[in-house]
Amino acid sequence: MAKKTISPGGSVSGVVELPGDKSISHRYAILAGLAEGASEIRNYSPAADCASTLECLRRLGIAVDAKGEHVRIAGKGLDGLKAPRRTIDAENSGSTIRMMSGVLAGQSFTSTITGDSSLRRRPMRRVVEPLRQMGADIRSTNGNRAPLEIRGGKLHGIDYTTPVPSAQVKSAILLAGLYADGVTTVRESVRTRDHTELALREFGANVAVAKGEISIEPRPKLQPRQSIVPGDLSSAVFLIGAALVLPESSLMLHNVGLNPTRSRVLDFLISIGASINLASVQLRDGELIGDVSVRHAVLAGGSISGAQVAEMIDELPMLAALGPFTEKGIEIHDAQELRVKESDRIATLAEGLRQMGARVEEFPDGLRVEGRAGSSAATKLRGARVNPQGDHRIAMALAVAALGAEGDTVIKDFECVGVSFPDFFKTLERLRGGENQDDLRK
Ligand code: S3P
Repeated sequence: MAKKTISPGGSVSGVVELPGDKSISHRYAILAGLAEGASEIRNYSPAADCASTLECLRRLGIAVDAKGEHVRIAGKGLDGLKAPRRTIDAENSGSTIRMMSGVLAGQSFTSTITGDSSLRRRPMRRVVEPLRQMGADIRSTNGNRAPLEIRGGKLHGIDYTTPVPSAQVKSAILLAGLYADGVTTVRESVRTRDHTELALREFGANVAVAKGEISIEPRPKLQPRQSIVPGDLSSAVFLIGAALVLPESSLMLHNVGLNPTRSRVLDFLISIGASINLASVQLRDGELIGDVSVRHAVLAGGSISGAQVAEMIDELPMLAALGPFTEKGIEIHDAQELRVKESDRIATLAEGLRQMGARVEEFPDGLRVEGRAGSSAATKLRGARVNPQGDHRIAMALAVAALGAEGDTVIKDFECVGVSFPDFFKTLERLRGGENQDDLRK
């Protein structure tokens, strides 16, 4: 397993075209598979998670032709999927298993879907429960976790209030709602990303959205589409983080997804002093996109809690890693969901940042990372050997912190970044002028 050594210092500057958004790529692929005819998706995410979704579709008899980031999918309509001969494998992807479970619940065949050891530990009850209420027979020998055996069938529409804020759960129910015998409604008390609602409409489904309430009419004829996936803001934030840590940095990120249910991280960064500007903001395929420019700035620090958390859930590791570079530090609450992501992100972050000399207080629902004002000069971050526990976003967050530490940091199993942003280290290296980076192989 490979390690990556990050030497600190320098600056990042240049122009970046981000790979396609991971969340949107999953949704376009699934809906293309259910549409009546051939769809084309450009700038499809190169993330391993999105390849997992394509592989699941193939196992269900859908022809998928993926040439780099250009994907063609020959949809066969809502009832065109075939019973898989083998277990379907979502690998590390929570979005894949949860959303595909919604689709599988509507099929007239039985299928089993599983994932890697991380995914098999993650909670699935949140999706199994509402799908059972809709009429699917879902069995697990692993305490409502994967592998899930799904006997799909005649589903009825339900009116369901999600107990945890989760776009994946909302999406699974809406996708199952395509197969129901009446309208399906999902209510959420905290807003989560709305890519499924937007994509369903683009593919021709009838979706009504009122405050906190999303309803879908069953059995639409989904139309194939040609779509372009916006750049992934959740990947972009790690490069933005690098620019905020390294003095004299300046980046321009093109065609980044700026959906308001995702861009709260930019509002937060601006509110604590980041110099971030948006330009050429426009709507494409129902999604807001634009160019984001960022310059190095001194950050005040601040706290995140309540409804902000769901809209920044994937950016919290990077924000926590910025803590030591702010004046007052970063404090996060109401984020217990971080404990059931690809790793226990609160514990993994706390351990990694502490190893680098940060002062971190861990709470059941978050953490506090001291800023400069709370530490003596002697507690400036220092390079360390850190273990992201196979979690892509932790590896990238610790890499950002490493840029501002004293001495080299060695990140174990750095290839896990491939789950969302395979070219992260290559891009970072290019923006730093190719200096200070090397691979060490065991
Ligand atoms: C996602 C939703 C979020 C997020 C994940 C992607 C999605 O998960 O953390 O990376 O694409 O819908 P939850 O729905 O579990 O909050």
